[in-house]
Amino acid sequence: MNRLTLMSIITAALACPSAALAENIHVATPNTSLVLDATAGQPLKFLYYGNHLAAADLANIGTIGDAVFNAYPVYGLWPEKEAAMSAVHADGNMTLDMAVTGVSSSTEADGAQVTTVTMTDKVYPFNVDVNYRTYPDSDVIETWTVTSHDEKKPVTLTRFMSGYLPIRRSDVHVSQLYGSWANEGKVEEAPLPHNLKVIKNKDGVRNSHTAHAEVMMSLDGKGREDEGRVIGAALCYGGNYKLMFDTDDSNHHHFFAGINEENSEYHLKKGERFATPPLALTYSEEGLGGASRNFHKWGRNHRLANGNKLRKVLLNSWEGVYFDINEAGMTQMMSDIADMGGELFVMDDGWFGVKYPRKNDSSSLGDWSVDTTKLPNGIKGLCHTADSLGIRFGIWIEPEMSNSISELYEKHPEYILKAVNRDPVMGRGGTQLVLDMANPAVQDLVFNVVDTLMTKYPEIDYIKWDANAPVMNHGSQYQKPENQSHLYIGYHDGLEKTLQRIRAKYPDLTIQACASGGGRANWGILPYFDEFWVSDNTDALQRIYMQWGTSYFFPAVAMASHISASPNHQTNRIVPLKFRTDVAMSGRLGMEIQPKDMSAEDKEQTRKAIADYKAVRPVVQQGDLYRLLSPYDGKGAASLMYVSPEKDDAVFYWWKTEQFVNQQLPRVTMKGLDPDRLYTVTELNRVDNTPLPFEGKTFSGRYLMSNGLELPLSHNVDWHKRNDYASRVLRLQAK
Ligand code: DGJ
Repeated sequence: MNRLTLMSIITAALACPSAALAENIHVATPNTSLVLDATAGQPLKFLYYGNHLAAADLANIGTIGDAVFNAYPVYGLWPEKEAAMSAVHADGNMTLDMAVTGVSSSTEADGAQVTTVTMTDKVYPFNVDVNYRTYPDSDVIETWTVTSHDEKKPVTLTRFMSGYLPIRRSDVHVSQLYGSWANEGKVEEAPLPHNLKVIKNKDGVRNSHTAHAEVMMSLDGKGREDEGRVIGAALCYGGNYKLMFDTDDSNHHHFFAGINEENSEYHLKKGERFATPPLALTYSEEGLGGASRNFHKWGRNHRLANGNKLRKVLLNSWEGVYFDINEAGMTQMMSDIADMGGELFVMDDGWFGVKYPRKNDSSSLGDWSVDTTKLPNGIKGLCHTADSLGIRFGIWIEPEMSNSISELYEKHPEYILKAVNRDPVMGRGGTQLVLDMANPAVQDLVFNVVDTLMTKYPEIDYIKWDANAPVMNHGSQYQKPENQSHLYIGYHDGLEKTLQRIRAKYPDLTIQACASGGGRANWGILPYFDEFWVSDNTDALQRIYMQWGTSYFFPAVAMASHISASPNHQTNRIVPLKFRTDVAMSGRLGMEIQPKDMSAEDKEQTRKAIADYKAVRPVVQQGDLYRLLSPYDGKGAASLMYVSPEKDDAVFYWWKTEQFVNQQLPRVTMKGLDPDRLYTVTELNRVDNTPLPFEGKTFSGRYLMSNGLELPLSHNVDWHKRNDYASRVLRLQAK
């Protein structure tokens, strides 16, 4: 135990009636405290997580009469309780009995402090390090474990959660995200039921279409945006996960989060280390909004690739041309987006395949050579065109996948996931197959897809990395028969290793995580990606709901949000350009449309919107989010705003979600402004014939936060332009 460095974190050696010296560890951020009792020879105990403790509270926290639970409960002795870990020793013993044998701390390169408590089984040479890393700038604490042993034969890990937290019963409500393809990120809130509530994923490849690996726990009844105690938890893992609330006969709910152990028991060899992914925790007394802002800050500063850099305004070719890629078409799209002020063009699916050209989704994945019948001057030619237009060029790939109709599969059928003695089950297009990322040869292959593109075409500025299949076959041709249960964990280990290599070589490349839309919105994968595609559904109205939910855990800079065609390709809804733009501008603005089908007037409106977005981009992408009026409350409108950290600039969004004549809508009060500063209001994306009455006027932050501004129910436009939508984007600049 490194006692000197520990002095800063061990804040109290408490007067403990027992003979053992109680060592309380205070894992602290400016506004939060997590307190553990790491008495040597005893299991690690959890004492407290919540608001930052004063010295007096800290000294007495173990004496308040609350039940004390193990901080990392293991299975075996008193096995009737849920546990964070279970294991079968080499001799068949299914019990663990862990006690603290050491505590150490270190400071990481980014200034984060890591505290490690080592527990060792009282009989077996089996160790679990329970780690806590603090992020003072955002009040986030990450916890994870590293397990190792010195037993003669492998130990089988049958459960391996990243962390556990007892939550005192009161009226705890849990907000979670749920959905499905094209309907991701919907918010659902409910009180905790008795017995078990499980949130899980078993897709194998992607993990955020249906449920999400993050939750908000509002401790005092239904979650409120600005008040109330909230614990936010985000499991940072790209693979199968399980979040579990066990409400037993005690006064506590028991929260566990980690890799989903189902069909994934792990045979840990002597000397091998099994690290679980971090579980990020935050605590706020500023309600859901406070917890979200903490996650956003932590994400931007520490987890999202290039989280503090501004993202470019782009046009993606998918909904504009789908697979119909050709040089003239790409050139026209590039020229159109450049003309509207965009900064980047992304060529989506359909550009590759020589022996088997990619005409639709039934062939060619894995054959990442350009189809010169479609693109005679290749990617080089497109990069030149982009350069001459003053924009950057990006490209789509789906490197973890193949099709049965592909040169890759013909050469390497052993690379795919498939159960022995069975034909492979195939996905999209009837032929899609998933490569076995656990196989180092596949890792090299996937690394080389990116490396070859980047070496041949260093001009490439952006990669859209897609993943359109789950694990459809439980079978790894790489793993030994006895390790078939390592498939899911091995896949994500291999993927992460590959992404680490890519990021080490190409740190500045912008990479989007797309996975049939929003399948990869997770903090485990985002250290390697700059952003994610929120959903394949680009319908502006539905996006309000999806982006609202997604914003619980993810910042706007990571949320790709595109203006698309009307009628919308997913919902067939007819939505005016103004509304589509006003929604897309609340995330990382892009376009996903055939610009040649836009009228000159629409193009001009978009040109202006892009220019305005560039002006407010630092506030949207790096500012603090305040959610003002939830679309889920059914009040007929939704509203949110971003405020710069200096509180000198803000962007306010308001979208009507329903249209009824003479309906009464609430006036939305603003948040996050400096009450004592004066803000001048400018409407962005104005389509009305007359300005709003308060256009160019100045109001105090106090007035805006107490009263808001009165917004008309509709737009004052010529008759032929009237429609059933209304929305506003207001910029507020401090004097
Ligand atoms: C699924 C993605 O979500 C879409 O945006 C698009 O890239 C297609 N794949 C291409 O096949």
